[in-house]
Amino acid sequence: MGYKSPLQSGNSMCTWRYLGRFVTLGVYAAVALFLWYTLVPTRSKEPISANLDASAAPVITKNVVIYAATKFFGHPITTERFLATCPDVQNYCRITQDESEFDNADAVLFHNADYHGQNEKFKSMKNQRKPGVPFVLWSLESPSNDNFRPETHMINWTMTYRTDADIWAPYGTMIKRHKALDVNLHALWNSKSKSATWLASNCFTQNKRPYKFYLSIENSNCKDYVTEKFWKALNDRVTIPIVLARKYYKDLGVPDSAYIAIDDYATFDEFVAHVKRVEKDKDLYLSYHEWRKDWKVIIGSGFSGWCTLCDKLQDKEYILKHPKSYKDVAWWHSFEMCNNQIANKFL
Ligand SMILES: *[C@@H]1O[C@H](CO)[C@@H](O)[C@H](O)[C@H]1NC(C)=O
Repeated sequence: MGYKSPLQSGNSMCTWRYLGRFVTLGVYAAVALFLWYTLVPTRSKEPISANLDASAAPVITKNVVIYAATKFFGHPITTERFLATCPDVQNYCRITQDESEFDNADAVLFHNADYHGQNEKFKSMKNQRKPGVPFVLWSLESPSNDNFRPETHMINWTMTYRTDADIWAPYGTMIKRHKALDVNLHALWNSKSKSATWLASNCFTQNKRPYKFYLSIENSNCKDYVTEKFWKALNDRVTIPIVLARKYYKDLGVPDSAYIAIDDYATFDEFVAHVKRVEKDKDLYLSYHEWRKDWKVIIGSGFSGWCTLCDKLQDKEYILKHPKSYKDVAWWHSFEMCNNQIANKFL
């Protein structure tokens, strides 16, 4: 789906026609969410740790090596690229693609999209593995795009955007600031309203900042699946993201007032009326930016998991004492996590 274009506010017709595709979808999403709330037991609300914050350097106890048994979408997995966001971690952790290091590795990692079925090499690895060396599945994709089918109990740890993954590797997150930031909201408002006129003829321009809103609809509606589209709308584009269903964002700890959720409204017309009101009312518009004073957005792009993995691998004793494995990791990744079958009907 090509929902990349920014939402032009105001009287531009293209916006509302574009949004119209979501009318029915929004209603069905609301129904699905209601069912979700009713049928799926709520999981414990653990606070989301801010281990994406590079300043929280781990205590170094042990050098670690991760053997990457697959590539990353056909590209090499290197220390330089994959630990780029945590240079401190590079002091004690490295990634190798050299199979001869399998025996010395502290973990073996598989990227889902590069793992091809009943690979003989992987089978023999499974037979040779040591108890304290976890096999890790890394996935950036929502279950609907995922074809990873490893053998049973092959995978010990998961590394995905899901908050209940063993290694949490989100596309982005938010952390509370220690001290409130002095944000010039008036300047923000001025930067938006100024551009409103000339944008009317450019619904799909690449220019990012002048837009008041940004349509951040994900290509699948799955638990915790919130991609850069949303985080960059907040951070880089400095807009109010418009999302389909509030639940996914609430679960990730995003303040309610940072975005507009279509499923908050009884009808699509009510939603549109609200957006129009927000667009014209300075105070109301800026109330959606107040969070900037207390919260900081961190873009993770899913790579931050590597830094966390290195950290976790240092505690060999703990790992040996707490063995775990997934009987069916594909099931874990997909079970009751998405409501795409509903959305697909309208696309
Ligand atoms: C990985 O899973 C296997 C198979 O269940 C198990 O024997 C091993 O102890 C597990 N390793 C870790 C580090 O959890």
